[in-house]
Amino acid sequence: MTRTFSGIKPTGHLTLGNYLGALRQWVEVDQHKSDALFCVVDLHALTVDHDPARIRRLSRQAATLMLAAGLEPARCTVFVQSHVDEHTRLSYLLECTASDGEMRRMIQYKEKSARERAAGGSVRLSLLTYPVLMAADILAYSADEVPVGEDQVQHVELTRDLAVRFNQRYGHTFTVPRAVHPTVAARVMDLQDPTSKMGKSHAETSGIVYLLDEAEVVRKKVMRAVTDSRGEVVYDREEQPGVANLLEILASCTGGQPAELASTYASYGALKKDTADAVLELLRPVHERHAELCADPGYVDAVLRAGAERARTLARPTVDAAYAAIGLMPPA
Ligand code: TYM
Repeated sequence: MTRTFSGIKPTGHLTLGNYLGALRQWVEVDQHKSDALFCVVDLHALTVDHDPARIRRLSRQAATLMLAAGLEPARCTVFVQSHVDEHTRLSYLLECTASDGEMRRMIQYKEKSARERAAGGSVRLSLLTYPVLMAADILAYSADEVPVGEDQVQHVELTRDLAVRFNQRYGHTFTVPRAVHPTVAARVMDLQDPTSKMGKSHAETSGIVYLLDEAEVVRKKVMRAVTDSRGEVVYDREEQPGVANLLEILASCTGGQPAELASTYASYGALKKDTADAVLELLRPVHERHAELCADPGYVDAVLRAGAERARTLARPTVDAAYAAIGLMPPA
């Protein structure tokens, strides 16, 4: 059976981008067709300036939302990264496999480190080594498929390179994984700035739909989405990025195709209204289930405990094999 692994970083409230680009695919496809593991990657959230209490709260919220969105513990393994030591154990071996040049070439590192420096802050070393820990997340479970949005594809490519290199140097140890992402809405854009990704850690929030936003807030954000002055609904990501983004969101929510939907609209207002309705329709059951789960924190804890136990059982033999292969003396 195919093994799937993916994760969400608890650096902010989850967004519609996380949902359409990743989470929905986990719920609707991956947990049914593969042995799937989904992880709240909390260690990754420590790579930028952070508030300990907030990270703790957001980690629980992310896990609760993953279950609210429809991940079923009977079908998949849901857990928190820091509960399973194998991730950091393996990460070090992969640091000894990667080069610093490879790390510095990563687009997310370049963007985030430039932002931190521009704000006068220092760049944590873990921001540079972030993709290595991500590779460890994936390789520890011998995952075949990694369902992610478009922004993570470069990191999965690096994971593949590290797996191949390690296998060549030290003997076959890791499965070489591949990234998979949805054909529509693999990159949901910010509603106020449709040339940049809708990201959960952005400071300006008016263009970001959060999964837990109230219905009226979602409607307002979508109705105020930036479009253009052309006045014609055409699916053209280059020329009309705002309109294209709305069409992609609508298509993703309703199962249509953006270009076909475009021809059915004569005005931006109608497109926005239908998009807001479709998003709300999709989010309503998630809200309901989230409220139920918040009333039962013991259930979420039990799911995460069982998830971490299973994850440990799966990861340990692979990580132990990597320790042996690279030349470390086994304990007596
Ligand atoms: P993160 O937490 O930024 O995002 C979680 C998932 O949501 C996708 N995503 C989007 N998809 C479409 N449009 C958007 N605007 C959008 N924003 C986010 C991301 O592509 C991702 O699939 N490095 C990862 C977390 C991670 C991971 C892993 C993922 C750590 N280890 C191992 C897979 C496997 C990240 O920061 O995702």
